[in-house]
Amino acid sequence: MTRPLALEVTVPSEDLSYPVKIGSGLLGGVGDTMRRVTPRARQVAVISDTNVLPLYGARVRASLEAAGLSVVSHVIPPGETSKTPQRMVALVSALVADGLGRSDAVLALGGGVVGDLAGLVAALFMRGIDVVQCPTSLLAQVDASVGGKVAVDLPEGKNLLGAFAFPRAVVIDPAVLQTLPDEELGCGVAEMLKHGALFDPEHFAAVRDQADAIYRRDEAVLGPQIAISVGLKAACVIRDPLERSDAGKGRIALNLGHTVGHALELGEGYALKHGQAVGLGLLAAARLSKRLGLTSLDLEGHIRTALEALRLPTDLDTYLTADRRSALIEAMARDKKRDAHRKITYIALARLGEPRVLSLTPEAILEAII
Ligand SMILES: NC(=O)c1ccc[n+]([C@@H]2O[C@H](COP(=O)([O-])OP(=O)(O)OC[C@H]3O[C@@H](n4cnc5c(N)ncnc54)[C@H](O)[C@@H]3O)[C@@H](O)[C@H]2O)c1
Repeated sequence: MTRPLALEVTVPSEDLSYPVKIGSGLLGGVGDTMRRVTPRARQVAVISDTNVLPLYGARVRASLEAAGLSVVSHVIPPGETSKTPQRMVALVSALVADGLGRSDAVLALGGGVVGDLAGLVAALFMRGIDVVQCPTSLLAQVDASVGGKVAVDLPEGKNLLGAFAFPRAVVIDPAVLQTLPDEELGCGVAEMLKHGALFDPEHFAAVRDQADAIYRRDEAVLGPQIAISVGLKAACVIRDPLERSDAGKGRIALNLGHTVGHALELGEGYALKHGQAVGLGLLAAARLSKRLGLTSLDLEGHIRTALEALRLPTDLDTYLTADRRSALIEAMARDKKRDAHRKITYIALARLGEPRVLSLTPEAILEAII
């Protein structure tokens, strides 16, 4: 028998860092940013949805053309139902028809759906071309656009077909939030609260206390708070860029509020919006932390006050009635992060700013929150 050969393929690491620019009016200068971060691009494919392109497409096109880039645009219907493999392949074919080459680039202009889909299209087209993210929903600005996760959904579940593919730049213009509906703004606010609860109690309090200014779309408040939230998420993903760590402040911590939140979303047939469900998931995490003796603080009370101030639902118990429990357990059992013993990685809190990583069965989670 011949001895197996073992070779080591050493991959010199490419610099995958990228700037995140935040400021009112930046969308009007996106052409210059594109020129700087993708200097070899001649053509840019703007991918957007039918709500966002009519609002901001002309401004983006004018800026790209002024920077000497030729522009093609592709729109998708808004919403999660567009995040499909079929639409992704259709977009890749459209880029082939446009004559885009390996040195050209994609610009994602929209919420998290556009960002995830366009990011995956860019990651796969000709084995990967550059993408710049211009997130236009608060959720995409503070969460989805930063971290390099891109994906589409499968019938079996959300985000099951995806990749890590880092953008060349992220351009965040808080002025576009003026046209974002309140309910969508609330979804982003829930993720900001989550970042504060995980990493920075001062941010948690500032978001809570500035609820009115946030809903007024006061850009003098929104800009700095978005920057803090993005900074907290960025610090987390830098510690664990490919989600390989199980440690307390690695990327896994970002699941705070999401285990129960996702189950509620599924259980209610998506009648609850994602951010609303995450808010309820934060309450659940606080309650569980107290019941399991991780904290003696009234974290549930703190989180409830913040959610009320931020116009997010707080009626967790309504969704935990006896008739709903088996569906919730089933939904949690489908969690991607479960081990051979059906235990799920669950993020709890010892206090605001101090996450704890637990391993629990869905039954134990439900037991601790009802
Ligand atoms: N990649 C990641 O790390 C990550 C993280 C969190 C969420 N996500 C994904 O993000 C998606 C949710 O993102 P979302 O909440 O932005 O949803 P979305 O993209 O569906 O946007 C919400 C709605 O707001 C509209 N909209 C967006 N910007 C607007 C603006 N400025 N003015 C008016 N309308 C505007 C959209 O057309 C849509 O109808 C999910 O698919 C989720 O899986 C990804």
